[in-house]
Amino acid sequence: MSILSRLNPREAPPARSDAESAPVAPEDIAPPPDRAEPAPAAAPRLDPQYEQFKSDLHRQLVEEFKKAEISPAQMANREQMRQRITTEVRTYLERQNKKLTQNQMGFLIEEMVNEMVGLSILEPLLNDDSVTEIMVNGPDLVFVEKKGKLLKAPCKFRNEEHLRHVIERIVMPLGRRIDETSPTVDARLPDGSRVNAVIPPLALKGSALTIRKFAKKKLDVEDMIKFGTLDRKMAQFLNYCVKGKLNIVVSGGTGSGKTTTLNILSSFIPHDDRIVTIEDAAELKLQQEHVVSLETRPAHTGSENTAVTIRDLVRNSLRMRPDRIVVGECRGGEALDMLQAMNTGHDGSLTTGHANSPRDMLARLETMVLMAGMDLPVSAIRSQIAGAVNLILQQSRIRDGSRKITQLTEVQGMENDKIILQDIFVYNQTGFDPSGKVIGRFESTGLIPGFIKKIEMEGIKVDYSIFTKTEESP
Ligand SMILES: Nc1ncnc2c1ncn2[C@@H]1O[C@H](COP(=O)(O)OP(=O)(O)OP(=O)(O)O)[C@@H](O)[C@H]1O
Ligand SMILES: [Mg+2]
Repeated sequence: MSILSRLNPREAPPARSDAESAPVAPEDIAPPPDRAEPAPAAAPRLDPQYEQFKSDLHRQLVEEFKKAEISPAQMANREQMRQRITTEVRTYLERQNKKLTQNQMGFLIEEMVNEMVGLSILEPLLNDDSVTEIMVNGPDLVFVEKKGKLLKAPCKFRNEEHLRHVIERIVMPLGRRIDETSPTVDARLPDGSRVNAVIPPLALKGSALTIRKFAKKKLDVEDMIKFGTLDRKMAQFLNYCVKGKLNIVVSGGTGSGKTTTLNILSSFIPHDDRIVTIEDAAELKLQQEHVVSLETRPAHTGSENTAVTIRDLVRNSLRMRPDRIVVGECRGGEALDMLQAMNTGHDGSLTTGHANSPRDMLARLETMVLMAGMDLPVSAIRSQIAGAVNLILQQSRIRDGSRKITQLTEVQGMENDKIILQDIFVYNQTGFDPSGKVIGRFESTGLIPGFIKKIEMEGIKVDYSIFTKTEESP
């Protein structure tokens, strides 16, 4: 069978004796597979001979580009590179005496462009707006998240070396390195997508790559209401809380939508407040004009002191006359600085943290404060937390893939060394519908939070009807 006739490995035409040099009729080859719509359970099918052909062509292109001494800046110009690659591919095919239809040629060139200047087989997934996350578990297994659901993608890397090549292509332009001495890396794609890579020996079944795609359109509060993440009463309440300068911690598991919610909370901050945002990888997209965005810097291998941590930036931000400090995520000692800031006049600060319930969030905060290395008694830490945090917003990724704010919980204060929490709004899940979608409703507990006075002191007129207890279901 002709190698060219394997351009679509899904449907190989019958063998032809003269196939090697004969032009391939368009009808011999089915159109390229629709890579933009990964089928949930489709097993990746790779034709070894076609893969070999592409691999040889790729090697040839790499050689040519090396000879031509193409600079990284030139490489970044995708359109120019496409023209160059098209010329090279045509020359290669002529030399090999192979002919392709327009359709096949277009498909092959696209693959080579993805291979040479893009992220290879991941490109179609990156270009598919319905894919929100890409997870590579070694060269043979690629998963994607679509509408909150995990699906297996119908593509795979040729081998570990191919996958490593793609990882290097991501990290090299950022001046970062990934190798045995530093086998994990956090990076970002030029479009802002967040990337994490771990290579063997730490990753046991081949390199692992995770890409959280940067949403082109950030969700707004109306989207959140439409998706059933919260209801209008809760949205109104959160608006009061942010405008009323409460300190809020968004708590949730990984991928539960904490950063997205933080972005929405930040959008409620009045435009005349000066905001400093601090993140590991800038994901927040604030609409206000008066925003200073700061991003941490990882240590370059071998020179630890070049790192700038979240904690360094929180401390620094206090000297920047912020009205609000928004910290993307608290994971360690920065929690202490954040709490101190909240307790000393930087009201209205916002952050997120990994925890499964508001009570769990308190325990996490305690642990994080201990990580600051100060010898503080637990009771002192607790009163610091109770004095600083006003509201914990608990968010979860539910079984059906949706994200829900499951609790809006007031931190009331201390009683005998224990922090008192009080739910104001909760999500009450009652079951699943036949399609597997979660059924439930958001409920007001009927309690009016003590901090409502603080909100009113900020001149905000509160509609108390949002707190009216939701009637029991009949
Ligand atoms: N309310 C929502 N409804 C539907 N999808 C959402 C919602 N919030 C976030 N998402 C999607 O979920 C994914 C994860 O969101 P996000 O980055 O905000 O989560 P996270 O909790 O901050 O994750 P991590 O723990 O990795 O930092 C994104 O693809 C985002 O578009
Ligand atoms: Mg996040």
